Amino acid sequence: MFTHSIRRYSLTVNKVYSLSEIKEMLLLEEEEAFALYEEANSLTEKLFGKSIFVRGIIEFSNVCAKNCLYCGIRRGNKNVKRYHIGKEDLKKIIMDAHNDNFKTIVLQSGEVDVYDNDITEVIEYVKSKCDIAITLSMGEKSREQYIEWKNAGADRYLLRIETTNRKLFENLHPDDDFDNRLKSLMTLKELGYEVGTGVMIGLPKQTEEDLASDILFFKENDFDMLGVGPFIPHNETPLRDIKSVNMSMVLNFLSAMRLVTYDTNIPATTSMATLDKEGREKALNAGANVIMPNYTPQKYRESYKLYDNKICTKEDAEHTMEFTKKTVERAGKVLVLERGDRRR
Ligand code: 5AD
Ligand code: SF4
Repeated sequence: MFTHSIRRYSLTVNKVYSLSEIKEMLLLEEEEAFALYEEANSLTEKLFGKSIFVRGIIEFSNVCAKNCLYCGIRRGNKNVKRYHIGKEDLKKIIMDAHNDNFKTIVLQSGEVDVYDNDITEVIEYVKSKCDIAITLSMGEKSREQYIEWKNAGADRYLLRIETTNRKLFENLHPDDDFDNRLKSLMTLKELGYEVGTGVMIGLPKQTEEDLASDILFFKENDFDMLGVGPFIPHNETPLRDIKSVNMSMVLNFLSAMRLVTYDTNIPATTSMATLDKEGREKALNAGANVIMPNYTPQKYRESYKLYDNKICTKEDAEHTMEFTKKTVERAGKVLVLERGDRRR
């Protein structure tokens, strides 16, 4: 019966869903869940064809001043070997990515302010040399800082809300304020960035209702990119004993997110591939239309472990595109070398 009602949804362009409809999707099992994935995949193909956009991530620093309970590189983890890729090396890595045909890269780091000026210089340099979309993922900053990077040429910003349950957010983030996170997201939108956000699935005490609300939050605020993934424990954090959810819950969430938010860019993330070795392929058949391989030089990857068993810490950056193309082909899709801006 549910299968039938899901099928009707794709006939309605950009349908509005209620909280209880989304919750129902999250709770589907087996054949009904597969029907949901198929529905999300059909909608994705209707909007994007079989094209999968590729974005390289460069984790340029694991220095972080914050102590988020779930994260392996939190400041309280004294076992992490801290590194920071300096601006000249970073410029070179981005130009290498451009030569390797990446049309967009994501610069990600822990949250500290000390390298912010370097990043302005890096963006200006890269933008003067080539046409590559630059996404930043460096956490909460002042409005002035976001303006400076936008003026330098940054195109997009990723800042996950992590969970829209305020209480849960506060419990997990000793250094953060929920309203400030929201304010940062709204500032980024107002300044004209393409804005990405996202949540972790399977946080302790998170309910299906919370997850359904997360999806409504994405829709209501019209975010452009939605990066989500399972929570995976890291053994040097306070959440070391919390188990991850099953891949099926992640896929239900992903498909529901596609149906509800319609034409957003949704990546198959590294955490999905860590939870399930075919996680990326499964995600690419359940609503994801983006893949984000790791382009960090190999020697740093072991030190950017947000959670245990993070994959791709061994491969070299130079093999990244080839490896990614194969993953996409295994999923029956086609890797496209485009910027992959939000299409409306
Ligand atoms: N499990 C899954 N995802 C995590 N992140 C941080 N720690 C974990 C973890 N233990 C995610 C957060 C953050 C992004 C960079 O990585 O959502 O925003
Ligand atoms: Fe730092 Fe981000 Fe990890 Fe929080 S999630 S500890 S801000 S790197």
